[in-house]
Amino acid sequence: MAGFDDPAFYGDRWAGVYDEHHGGMDPSAAVEFLAGLAGDGRVLELAIGTGRVALPLARRGVTVEGVDASEAMVARLRAKPGGERIPVVIGDMAQVPVDGPFGLVYLIFNTLFGLLSQHRQADCFRSVARVLGPGGAFVIECFVPDLSRFDRGQRVQAVAVTEDSATLEVSRHDAALQRVTSQIITLDAQGVHLGPVALRYSWPGELDLMAAAAGLRLAGRYGDWDERPFGSASVKHVSVYRRD
Ligand SMILES: C[S@@+](CC[C@H](N)C(=O)[O-])C[C@H]1O[C@@H](n2cnc3c(N)ncnc32)[C@H](O)[C@@H]1O
Repeated sequence: MAGFDDPAFYGDRWAGVYDEHHGGMDPSAAVEFLAGLAGDGRVLELAIGTGRVALPLARRGVTVEGVDASEAMVARLRAKPGGERIPVVIGDMAQVPVDGPFGLVYLIFNTLFGLLSQHRQADCFRSVARVLGPGGAFVIECFVPDLSRFDRGQRVQAVAVTEDSATLEVSRHDAALQRVTSQIITLDAQGVHLGPVALRYSWPGELDLMAAAAGLRLAGRYGDWDERPFGSASVKHVSVYRRD
């Protein structure tokens, strides 16, 4: 497999700059929410990355394990205090290559959409259901698709402009495939830096159907990690699925 179809592609391309790009995101509300569901059981983060959420969750005393396809991302996790103590399996989150049972599995920051077909996303739900114990929870955080962002299937956005650099997001949208392909492009004195991202978005109702087909039922849906109500104006959702 090559390019976007390679599960390791995103992480390998982003590992060097991931924390720098996302350092402004405060994980505390997500950590609070997940700690509340974790109980005393084992917890698994799919696509654990550099440990942005797993590390503060582990510092709360939660037993977190991880799966990620990218050795490079996991190397960044390992280099952080406490990172070497989190067990991580390198593999594909659609397959969830670990043994359960887990009381909580979570897959956040839109990363489910990194699986680029409905089939792969449905596989992920099925694999999660396999490793969840009875009553266990699967939490996902996903954006609500907003097709008004695109004008005739494309969008160019000035993400950041400073004295020394400009960062642009350049995207193409394929409505038939529900797929957005982007480059986050930074121009500075060192040259041009490309950050490739491909996503296959799903609507909340489509996700619920995939979950139901895997034997998981929607137990709660919120507009954010602070549990504000989800509604028509919500730009994202935090959804909790349960295995009965
Ligand atoms: C946007 S980052 C999210 C990292 C972390 N969960 C966070 O919230 O900061 C996406 C992560 O998903 C991983 N990833 C992408 N596709 C994957 C796949 N098919 N299986 C496992 N990990 C994958 C990447 O390597 C990367 O670490």
